[in-house]
Amino acid sequence: MSKAKRIRKAVFPVAGLGTRFLPATKAVPKEMLTVVDKPVIQHVVNEARAAGIEHFIFVTGRGKACIEDHFDHQFELEATLAGKKKTKELQELLSELPGAGQTSFTRQQAPRGLGHAVWCARDLVGDEPFALLLPDMLHHGATPCLQEMVDAYAETGGGNFVAVSPVPDDQTHQYGIVGVEDREAKVSRITTMVEKPPKGTAPSNLHITGRYILDPDIFPLLAKQEAGAGGEIQLTDAMITLSASKKNPFHAVRFDGTIYDCGSKIGFLLANVAYGLEREDLAADLRRAIKEML
Ligand code: G1P
Repeated sequence: MSKAKRIRKAVFPVAGLGTRFLPATKAVPKEMLTVVDKPVIQHVVNEARAAGIEHFIFVTGRGKACIEDHFDHQFELEATLAGKKKTKELQELLSELPGAGQTSFTRQQAPRGLGHAVWCARDLVGDEPFALLLPDMLHHGATPCLQEMVDAYAETGGGNFVAVSPVPDDQTHQYGIVGVEDREAKVSRITTMVEKPPKGTAPSNLHITGRYILDPDIFPLLAKQEAGAGGEIQLTDAMITLSASKKNPFHAVRFDGTIYDCGSKIGFLLANVAYGLEREDLAADLRRAIKEML
């Protein structure tokens, strides 16, 4: 077994317009909406950091500058908290901040699809395998999803990995769908992939949940990838081409937790309830209030 390289870098595509969440996302990026008291993007960056990621690459767009500000020091606020001896709040803020030089930002410039967004990160990633996390999708489980994938990558000795989980059959047309060799296994070789298959044609009900480990060989394929489903440059289409080479097998890692799509209103509301119920300072009051409401 060849020794797998360490996964040091993660890409976060954050250029999306958030049209499913208007009017909230007119002036505020959807990634900055909060689940309890942290922006969605902070939850996802924390998942990446917990899996050993050291460099955080954001593919942004116009109107998203506050994401960059969020991942920097805010001296006035920090000085005020220090002056008022609000040590706990200050520590919490600082503990979630990537260090100097650990973030990079580039712009997608035009909404041409996920494949194009990932391609925009090519120079920042360079020639090494990398993680990709779609910030809309909060993965809530006992073990963080990307950690499970990094572990699977190390155990397998390299390759490409996507997290998957089952969806109801009538929803498969909304996602990338994979077929696997062994459905019962936690990690299994992928046999087929398709982006947003027309209703009734999906090879399984296992959907791509928005967490990937990819080989940099994906970049030259993305450079020449033509538009696919929805008229957009689809990452899944380039992954299908990449998987055809023996050097680049694709594996599915089954995620057994719950996934909240925070780009949708219902997913966002449920995420707030689920994450709120896990908080010691909120759980009892929240549980009581929800019971009364129902
Ligand atoms: C993207 C991917 C798709 C994946 C989905 C998860 O689609 O292309 O394969 O299943 O994210 O959210 P999008 O949501 O950008 O349409």
